[in-house]
Amino acid sequence: MLTRRNFLAVATVTATAFLAGCSGEKDEVPAAAPATEPAEETPAADAAPTGNVLVAYFSATGNTAGVAEAIAGRLGADVWEIEVAQPYTEADLNYNDDASRTSVECSDGTNPELAQVTPDGWADYDTVLLGYPIWWGEAAWPLRTFVAGNDFGEKTVMPFCTSGSSGIGGSAERLAELAGTGNWLEGERFSAGAGDDAAAWAAGLGL
Ligand SMILES: Cc1cc2nc3c(=O)[nH]c(=O)nc-3n(C[C@H](O)[C@H](O)[C@H](O)COP(=O)(O)O)c2cc1C
Repeated sequence: MLTRRNFLAVATVTATAFLAGCSGEKDEVPAAAPATEPAEETPAADAAPTGNVLVAYFSATGNTAGVAEAIAGRLGADVWEIEVAQPYTEADLNYNDDASRTSVECSDGTNPELAQVTPDGWADYDTVLLGYPIWWGEAAWPLRTFVAGNDFGEKTVMPFCTSGSSGIGGSAERLAELAGTGNWLEGERFSAGAGDDAAAWAAGLGL
C-alpha cells in the first residue's frame, strides 16, 4: 500500500527520489533530472494573456518566494504572498516525521487556514501566475485553501512550482479542478535559486 511513508528524501538533491503518497500516486523523478526542466508545453500565442498581472505564491522556506520575485521583477507584475494563519515551523515541515504538521495535514487532507484568502485588488487582475512548493508530489496544502476560496472567473492562470527534484506533475491540474473557474495553462517547475530561468520563462509568455 502506498502511504505517506513512501516519501523518501536522501542526502542530496541529485540523488533524491520522491515517492508521493498523499493521493496514492507514485511520483518518482530520475536521479539525473536536470536542474531546470524544459517547459512541458508553451502556451499557444492566441492564449497569451494580457492585462494586469499578479504573481501570487506560497513559500515555506523561501525558494518559491525567490522565483516568484524574479518572475514579478521581469514582468513588472504585482506580488501577493499567500500566508497561512499559523506559519509552518521547521518541525512542521519535517517530512520524515509522521506526526509533523505537514505529515498530518497530508494524511487528513486539511486545507490550512490562510491569513487572508483573497488578494487585495483580486478583481482587477486578468492573469495570475500561481507559485508553490511541491509537497509529496502535490501543491503545498495552502494552495488548496487559496484556489477553493477564490473565484478565478475568466482569469488566465499560469502555475509554477519549485521542488527538490519532482516535476510539476498533475499538481496544477488538481488545483484547477478544485478551483473550478479560470483558464488554467500548462505550468512549469523550477529548482531552488532558478530565478534567472524563471524570469526567462516569464519573459517568453507574451505578457
Ligand atoms: C513537507 C515537504 C514535502 C516535500 N515533498 C517534495 C516532493 O514530493 N518532491 C520534491 O521534489 N520536493 C519536495 N519537497 C521539497 C520542496 O518542494 C522544495 O524544497 C521547495 O523548493 C520548497 O519551496 P519553498 O522554499 O518555497 O517552501 C518537500 C518539502 C517539504 C517541506
